[in-house]
Amino acid sequence: MILDALPAEPELRVAQLRELIRYHNERYHRDDQPEIPDADFDALVNELRRLEAEHPDLVSADSPTQSVGAEPTGLFEPVRHRIKMMSLDNAFDDEEIIAWADRLARALGREQIDDLWFSVEPKVDGVAVSVTYEHGVFVQASTRGDGTTGENITANVATIADIPHHLNPAAAPFPAILEVRGEVYLPTAAFAEMNERQRQQGAKTFVNPRNAAAGSLRQKDPSITATRPLSYWGYQIGFLEGVEPGSLFDASTHAQTLKALSAAGIPVSSEISVVQGLDAVLTHSYELETRRHDLGFDIDGVVIKLDDLALRDQAGQTSRAPRWAIARKLPPEERSTLLKAIEVSIGRTGRATPYAVLEPVFVGGSTVEFATLHNQDQVTAKDVRPGEQVIVHKAGDVIPEIVGPVSPSGKRPPVWIFPAACPTCDGPLVRLDGESDTYCVNLDCPAQRIQRLCHFASRSALDIEGLGEKNVERLVEANLIADVADLFDLRAEQLVELEGLGDLSASNLVSSILSAKKQPLSRLLVGLGIRHVGPTTARDLARAFLTLDGIRAASLDELAAVEGVGPVIAESVRRFFANQSNEIVLNRLSQAGLPAPEQVLQVSDAETLPLAGKTVVVTGAVEGFTRDGANEAIERAGGKATGSVSAKTYCVVIGEAPGASKVTKAETLGIPMVGADVFAELLATGVIPSAP
Ligand code: IVH
Repeated sequence: MILDALPAEPELRVAQLRELIRYHNERYHRDDQPEIPDADFDALVNELRRLEAEHPDLVSADSPTQSVGAEPTGLFEPVRHRIKMMSLDNAFDDEEIIAWADRLARALGREQIDDLWFSVEPKVDGVAVSVTYEHGVFVQASTRGDGTTGENITANVATIADIPHHLNPAAAPFPAILEVRGEVYLPTAAFAEMNERQRQQGAKTFVNPRNAAAGSLRQKDPSITATRPLSYWGYQIGFLEGVEPGSLFDASTHAQTLKALSAAGIPVSSEISVVQGLDAVLTHSYELETRRHDLGFDIDGVVIKLDDLALRDQAGQTSRAPRWAIARKLPPEERSTLLKAIEVSIGRTGRATPYAVLEPVFVGGSTVEFATLHNQDQVTAKDVRPGEQVIVHKAGDVIPEIVGPVSPSGKRPPVWIFPAACPTCDGPLVRLDGESDTYCVNLDCPAQRIQRLCHFASRSALDIEGLGEKNVERLVEANLIADVADLFDLRAEQLVELEGLGDLSASNLVSSILSAKKQPLSRLLVGLGIRHVGPTTARDLARAFLTLDGIRAASLDELAAVEGVGPVIAESVRRFFANQSNEIVLNRLSQAGLPAPEQVLQVSDAETLPLAGKTVVVTGAVEGFTRDGANEAIERAGGKATGSVSAKTYCVVIGEAPGASKVTKAETLGIPMVGADVFAELLATGVIPSAP
């Protein structure tokens, strides 16, 4: 549904918003085919709420702000819920949580709620499903539908391994009727596997785990649902009848309810905490939020619920949501925006990568303006076309990704065609048969040159300060440099002439280029951009052969015999050194005095060094070190630096913005963690400094 114009009149805008919200509600709840990201939908609902609050005369009972979900699809038998299945009100920041707490206090006739207990739970992004047991035996399952009437999906739910057909006798006596409410969801790994299987079978893949779970439940044939790796978490009891007093189900708090469900064999999330007062609620919800990408399942928020069931009754509910609970929505990781253009960038190997130029959009915690589209096949598969709205996905630190177009409808703009010529040198762009990448094959292409030079100067290579893309472009355009060896012939007088470079920066640049001569062989190997040779392989090679000439003279077998270097890397290294133009550049670099000797420790020294025989992992930024610099420092101290935590890890150094998965893994395995402030001490002594 396309929104053409925004009417200024509140009355008209309210009507338009209601129509849009109803339409998207049906796409999401009824068809499992959402056309817009959840955050865009939330924005529509929020605007409607705001207008209804500003113009109370416009509020109507049939407004979507007053109801839940969507009408049933008619695919399954209708089931009337014994008690309405409600939705949750949303809060988007702390202020809205505090406002909710104030409303709750008022509803309970109290001054404040700080002495009350609350549960803080993941808001699992799946499908709400109610499951009924009679005397401990599974009899029925249904969807939420519009809250009053859902659909009978018993046969499908019966195939979910997480949902017991008979409750665990240890939890008996069971109520005559027990209706459990919870969420059917797909764990992240199961979703990835399921999509991989769909891909292999040439079937349509699912956009996200929620859609996949909803689609799997909506099958007419339960044997299809049975093949989907669905999971379930119970988070509430919807209805109870015939409860034996003093039995597990005779609960007076939410915590007791969850305990009873768990004892009966219904899975309950281990991520739920029950805490006292609003401060603890906020702290626990941030904590859950920071682990958002390490939970193993998608969440779209954190649910906060009053623990005491009698107080819940007292607080009551509105027509669509209880007053005793609130969902704290997390920052969106999917938004829609305009795809302004698709352009092509040329990398140092000549690879031509299409990328999206977007109307800037705030998603996943930062503003995204560009996103890679990888290659021609990806553009075709995603069917994204300049001039249309697209969905952008970005989860935390992950690279932004274009998911696809926002529900293309009506007349679409033309399909994007991969350019035939390089945007920089106008040479042909070539895609070889059977390959997915397209290349600019002109080795003199200035774009490739610029990228090769930038890579040479980058932090993990020769680390030449001041030689970023802008200055490299200036130097190439002024014909002062064409290859990396030319850098060492540059004189400050030549640079001063260039626009944008003053006297000082010209001489600074020349001196930082000169200081690159002090970099060891391994850094030079990285800078040369040999295919498959990253910092670790470069260090392995440098240690094995010690000099550039040593590597140049090495045979294929000698190269492949180095630990960490297999036949593929060996072949790539050989090919690089056998190339004549590379040889000329290497000779000139040698004449200029590159590289400095690799600092290689003698085995006997290494054994006496502080970190000898110990493996250390650094995660996050450590002040005063680049990532490679920190790893080099560990190795100079005799240790081994690796990127992943295992049972063999000696300790994990936690820098700024550490990787949550590494922290969790270290916690799980009981590996000691130390702050970056004691990194120097660790290097000097090899002893794990104890916490102050
Ligand atoms: S409680 C009356 N707890 O979120 C309270 N809901 O936006 C009803 N959800 O329909 C829900 N995780 O499908 C609750 N821990 C959790 C939840 C949760 C996910 C879903 C549920 C609900 C929707 C409301």
